[in-house]
Amino acid sequence: MSYNNIKFPLTRMRRMRYNDFSRRLMRENQLTVDDLICPLFVMEGSRQRELIASMPGVERLSLDLLLEEAQLLFALGIPAIALFPVISRDKKSDDAAEAYNPDGLVQRSVRALKQALPELGIITDVALDPFTTHGQDGLINADGYVVNDETIAVLVKQALSHANAGADIVAPSDMMDGRIGAIRHALEANQHINTRILAYSAKYASSFYGPFRDAVGSAGNLGKSNKHNYQMDPANSDEAMREIALDLQEGADMVMVKPGMPYLDIIYRVKQEFGVPTFAYQVSGEYAMLKAAAINGWLDERQVVLESLLAFKRAGSDAVLTYFAKSVAQWLQK
Ligand code: PBG
Repeated sequence: MSYNNIKFPLTRMRRMRYNDFSRRLMRENQLTVDDLICPLFVMEGSRQRELIASMPGVERLSLDLLLEEAQLLFALGIPAIALFPVISRDKKSDDAAEAYNPDGLVQRSVRALKQALPELGIITDVALDPFTTHGQDGLINADGYVVNDETIAVLVKQALSHANAGADIVAPSDMMDGRIGAIRHALEANQHINTRILAYSAKYASSFYGPFRDAVGSAGNLGKSNKHNYQMDPANSDEAMREIALDLQEGADMVMVKPGMPYLDIIYRVKQEFGVPTFAYQVSGEYAMLKAAAINGWLDERQVVLESLLAFKRAGSDAVLTYFAKSVAQWLQK
């Protein structure tokens, strides 16, 4: 049999692309406001906002302004926000005790948010980097090594203090071994049976976090040291599956892959292999890249951001943490 004398394509893939209506009918993935989680930076003070040089369009907000911003995000239909505190130097310490202060910035913010907007999901970050003088996510020993089990004891206190304040979801982003199990036990033992755990299970030691470290002011403290002995090697994929499996066994409700765009293959594998709620984080460096190109007029911000988020959906993400959340919610309304 030969197709040599066929003068036309047997299948014309372009037919379905011919009209907008048929493109819409065969569209496999959709991005909606339900897919968005907005990260927000909170700081002390009143009526204060600070620009973040490496994240144009993102600001650190004092709690009163944060409440107003959260109100806007809620009105736009965004399901949840993720809180990241900017802690003043005098509150940082070697033991990170401020992390579990019941009247700390995060704990006060959560209480105020839950009171003003009970229906808005509140996600808190469980990790010690905003609270340590050295900027590592855990406690360090004399050699500067982040000590696992001692750190977990503090993370458990931190997570409980967030749950006590009313956090809906605690999100350990520290990459210590065994912390999900320890936190789950503590939550169960303290009647927080419905507090969800979003585990940053596959969190890579990425250079795309640079602008975030500027935003929370941990970059200077971290100096030349890195997080390579607890965050994952960007070269690895099987290892991410083991991390996910462990966190699920220990009681995670949702898992996270971070960063996002350069790690879509990991998101895809996680969703395929585990079929659990899978979130992704379009991190600060990804935001900075897209924003910088948009500001320069090199890329169309709206088109390129919507495309990037659709790609997360196609890969298998159920939701995406993105600094573009508010803009996207506004674009989607039109
Ligand atoms: C730290 C933490 C980081 C981010 C969220 N939580 C940075 C780090 O691991 O140093 C990065 C988020 C971003 O880059 O947008 N616990």
